[in-house]
Amino acid sequence: MKVLLTGGTGYIGSHTAIELIKLGYEVEIMDNLFNSKITVLDKIEEITGVKPKFYKVDLLDKEGMDKMFGEGGYDLVIHFAGLKAVGESVEKPLKYYENNVGGTINLLECMKKHGVNKIVFSSSATVYGDQGVAELTEEMQTGVGITNPYGETKHVIEEILKDVAEAEPDFEATILRYFNPVGAHPSGLIGEDPNDIPNNLMPIIMKVSTGEIEKLKVYGDDYDTPDGTGIRDYIHVVDLAKGHVAAIEKMKPGVSIYNLGTGKGTSVLEMVAAFEKASGKKLPYEIVGRRAGDLAEIFANPSKAEKELDWKTELTIEDAMNDTINYLEHLAKK
Ligand code: NAD
Ligand code: UD1
Repeated sequence: MKVLLTGGTGYIGSHTAIELIKLGYEVEIMDNLFNSKITVLDKIEEITGVKPKFYKVDLLDKEGMDKMFGEGGYDLVIHFAGLKAVGESVEKPLKYYENNVGGTINLLECMKKHGVNKIVFSSSATVYGDQGVAELTEEMQTGVGITNPYGETKHVIEEILKDVAEAEPDFEATILRYFNPVGAHPSGLIGEDPNDIPNNLMPIIMKVSTGEIEKLKVYGDDYDTPDGTGIRDYIHVVDLAKGHVAAIEKMKPGVSIYNLGTGKGTSVLEMVAAFEKASGKKLPYEIVGRRAGDLAEIFANPSKAEKELDWKTELTIEDAMNDTINYLEHLAKK
């Protein structure tokens, strides 16, 4: 099976490429390299022995996309490409709608023109908004109380996929709602290496540990949680990558939606403690006020993916921290 990964040089896409290649899938990657580096392809080759064919194309470049699909002969697309900086999306909403929603429409049009009817889409737990409960299941109503344009783009794209599936009976879409991806490949060769300024917890912890950021600002310790800090479901990126393999092996007509998470929540201070334990170093932090739009506690109910995709997470927060530190050591040696 020949699979196109949009955004495949990015953090989650590159880990997924490795898992697919290991299982014998033919993988090609397209990316505009806005938030990733071309050298990722060499790392994928170092790990798997295979260097995927690469197209430097923008989702919004209709001609370039058409040409790529004309050459490709793909059976399926995994659609990772998108902008994901929540803060920036509040300042530049049109950029986010154009890139994420407009880009997905171009992609879907190209797929239709070239007879590709299977897509896996990178969605996010953010589509649940504020449900008033911590444990999230796929049947919950989505799209209410999303606090930023980035999250809205994920919700809108989910709705577009549902509408296309209504219109085209042979269309197969799997929506994967990721919880909080963390960690790196155990080889230390690839991990999260954003070109932009991070605003997620783990990339900030990484930059604090290397001294690029002075200290972690913990956004609030007065939540109704055991230690007062926010609780999230952190999933190792290799487990997440394997979730994509499980998903493409079980594609079916219509739209299928799965949470990809561990089912277990971890607080910000527990993440700090886990990083300190793995690195043997203190991580400087200070408690500051709450961040607008944050929820106290959310975690996945992953039982649908466990049952229908025969997939569940195997790695722990300790694994994620050890792999992150190994990756940081590799980066430092460069
Ligand atoms: P990433 O930024 O590392 O990867 C996304 C890739 O898409 C980048 O390499 C970027 O250059 C590329 N890209 C962006 N716009 C493009 C365009 N117009 N044309 C071509 N390429 C383009 O991000 P990631 O963490 O690997 O996330 C992958 C997907 O998963 C994204 O859609 C993201 O929104 C979603 N997601 C991520 C998280 C997370 O915390 N990392 C959580 C939930 C959902
Ligand atoms: C955030 C986004 C969400 C997006 C997801 C993945 C917000 C409000 N939510 O989710 O829309 O889908 O990233 O890109 O931005 N934290 C700190 N200090 C920091 C950074 C984070 O204390 O410097 C805390 C947060 O308050 C939260 C936890 O760490 O409790 C995780 O934060 P983060 O990594 O940003 O993920 P989410 O808030 O789950």
